[in-house]
Formats: sequence, C-alpha cells, structure tokens
Amino acid sequence: MSERPRITVVGAGNVGATCAQVLAQRDYADVVLVDIKEGLPQGKALDIDQMGAVLGYEPNVSGSNGYGESAGSDVVVITAGLPRSPGMSRDDLVQTNEKIVGSVTNEVVSASPDAILIVVSNPLDAMCHVAKNVSGWPKERVCGMAGILDTARFSSFIAWDTGSSVKDVTAMVLGGHGDQMVPVVSHTSVGGVPLRKLVPEDRIQAMVQRTAKGGGELVELLGTSAWYAPGAAAAQMVDAIMLDEKRVLPCTAYLEGEYGIDGLYMGVPVKLGANGIEGIVELDLSDDEQQALQASAGAVREVVGVLST
Ligand code: LAC
Repeated sequence: MSERPRITVVGAGNVGATCAQVLAQRDYADVVLVDIKEGLPQGKALDIDQMGAVLGYEPNVSGSNGYGESAGSDVVVITAGLPRSPGMSRDDLVQTNEKIVGSVTNEVVSASPDAILIVVSNPLDAMCHVAKNVSGWPKERVCGMAGILDTARFSSFIAWDTGSSVKDVTAMVLGGHGDQMVPVVSHTSVGGVPLRKLVPEDRIQAMVQRTAKGGGELVELLGTSAWYAPGAAAAQMVDAIMLDEKRVLPCTAYLEGEYGIDGLYMGVPVKLGANGIEGIVELDLSDDEQQALQASAGAVREVVGVLST
C-alpha cells in the first residue's frame, strides 16, 4: 500500500481524465478518479497507469464509482457535470450542474473532510458558490479553476502574434469565467516589454476578444468543451497546493472587499500553497480594466442569483 498523498478527481470525462493524466505524470501522489458511470473511471485509470510504463511514472491511478477509495484526499478536483454543446453558454448549465456539484460536494465533505476543493465545473464562478455553501468550508479551501486556462489562451495568441516563445509571455486574465472576463493588458508583457509597445491596439483588442470567447471557439470546433488545457490548468493548481509552491496564479476566489467586490467568487491573482488560497494579490488596474471587472462581477452575480443553494 502506497503512502503517497492522495488526490481525487471527480468526473472521468475529458477534463477529469486529462487532469488525472497530467497529475499521474507528475508522480508525487496517488490519484483516484471517481465517476458514477460504471467502468469509465476504472478503464481510464487503467489506461493512464499502463501509459506510465511507457512514459516512466508509477501506475498509481485508480478508478472508482464511489468515494471510499478517495477517503482522506488532500485535494479534490470537481469536474463533474454537463459540458457545453454548441450554441450553449456556460450559464445555460447552471441548474443541472448545481445539483451535480452539490451532491458531489456532500460526498467529498464526508470522505475527505480536510481537503482543499478545486471546482472546474461550469458555470464556474457560480459552481464555486455551490461548493462553498454546501461544504461550509472556509473560503481558503474552496477555489475554482478558470484564470489559468483563460490566461493560457491569451498567452498563446500573444506568442503567435509576436512570434515569441509562450514561455516569455507574462499575462493575466481576471474576472468571471464568461464572455466578460478581463484580460489585463496593462500587466501583460513579452520578455519584460509591455504588450502595448509591441502590438498595435487593434490587434491587442482582437486577441482580447478571442480570449473572452476562447471556450466558445473550442465548443464550435469540438462539439463539446475543451479538455487538454482545462485539465492541465487544474493540475497546475493541484501542484501549487500539494507542493506548497506559493505560486501567484489567477484562480477563482471568494472576494470580501478585494477589488471593490464583496461576497462573490471571481478570478483574481491568488497565492496558492498548502493552505489553499493564502492571499489575494491586488493589482493596480487601469480605469477601463477596473470598470470591466465590475461589469464581469455583475454578470457573475446574475448567475449566482438563480442558484437555490
Ligand atoms: C472552456 C470551458 C471549459 O473555457 O469553460 O473551455
């Protein structure tokens, strides 16, 4: 029996399985993939384990239809719920996914009472409220993944546009995980040079727009939500917590006055470590960015308003 720490990923769909695969490759923890569909988590876990013999990591992923094997997890990632279909906004999923995320959270609270929860299900900001309300856990231990994904999209567009390595792009996308998200151009640079010195404003705005609609672009292409970048982005948050990295990453956090927003989950830069959200970083935003963030908060509040939990 392995003594490694344990991570649970709930939902063995594309996002959950990708997250489990990336975490398996990191090779510092056991990963339990949970899904209600019989055979699916077991089969994907077995396949990921066997890939370890090729890529060189230990075969320590297991699949389960219940929460017994996941008991005592340090971090639980919730990807369960319906993904988007073409023409659907993330907000169209709210009622169905509220029920799913609520019942998953209840199971997680019983099985892993000391865990840190990372919510991935959409509509993301509202689902973080569901997880926090149902668990009753402190805000430090309930967070969501969106900003890393949205920032990854923005960074990719910038790397292509400027002919640079994506590794040298520093960017940050804040706000709700919806069409009103806020790519923070004033804090975006390539190799230390501000983006506005490198790229004309019309091309910047085109990248901002493409980022804001980045999930929808993929839904149109794939017929369902994206999974490679979302799964890897969730795994990056798990790393920061499990390895106590104290990374500053854009994550969905419960705000109590930061950025002038109170009582709402939104994407902001946070310091992520062993205790979960260890701090919220308040950037100096331009007036336009500040206004855009408030507008994004308004959009999130509308969705949160239809929740019954
Ligand atoms: C996306 C979905 C996962 O942005 O929200 O691709």
